[in-house]
Amino acid sequence: MPDILSIARARHTAKAYDPARKIAAPLIEQLRELVRLAPSSINSQPWHFAVASTDEGKARIAKAAHGLHAYNAPKILNASHVFVLCTRHTLTDAHLEAIVEQEARDGRYPDAQARQIRRESLLGYADLHRYTRRDAQAWMEKQTYIALGFLLLGAAALELDATPIEGFDHAVLNRELGLPAKGFTATTIVPLGYRGADDFNASLPKSRLSAQVLFSDL
Ligand SMILES: Cc1cc2nc3c(=O)[nH]c(=O)nc-3n(C[C@H](O)[C@H](O)[C@H](O)COP(=O)(O)O)c2cc1C
Repeated sequence: MPDILSIARARHTAKAYDPARKIAAPLIEQLRELVRLAPSSINSQPWHFAVASTDEGKARIAKAAHGLHAYNAPKILNASHVFVLCTRHTLTDAHLEAIVEQEARDGRYPDAQARQIRRESLLGYADLHRYTRRDAQAWMEKQTYIALGFLLLGAAALELDATPIEGFDHAVLNRELGLPAKGFTATTIVPLGYRGADDFNASLPKSRLSAQVLFSDL
């Protein structure tokens, strides 16, 4: 069995990449499948993943790392691959119907009644966020962060380095990737690859609040 704690302790946020080292295609395939398999509330999957493997693609993403965020640009440019995790800006009925349709195709409903019950439950929860709590956008972004967690731990398990990035100009990246027209906005950028010799974070000790502070046992 893989030692999950060793993986969690060994991973860190890479601050610099070796531009000469590329991730092998089968590993990238595993990471793509991993984010596709991430769980989400009511199986809403309100996300889209843009993956850059070319210098041109990475340069387009790096345009969003300017000004205050300029320190993140070399990570994006020098990494082997860069994932952009995007979130729907509207929870549409069409998307919800597509989820039900996919679940039907995947064989999750024994009959039409089961499908209808599921459909009503899905719409009920969607309406709770769209119209009662009116937090649909924030709620959808929470789901995308679950995919981020999957990606970070998965990358570490594959002995790849990764950098979760929230420090970028969202408006610039949205425009550069044409995301609004597709119904999405950028949530996080994740460069992936192999750390460079100048990755100062690799040798720093990990720092976390103590278990005593973080847990209460009931
Ligand atoms: C959602 C998220 C956004 C982050 N944004 C950035 C960023 O823009 N640039 C950066 O260098 N690190 C960023 N970090 C890295 C955190 O600072 C780092 O995860 C934290 O200090 C814990 O260190 P570790 O990941 O090395 O264990 C981000 C982390 C997360 C989870």
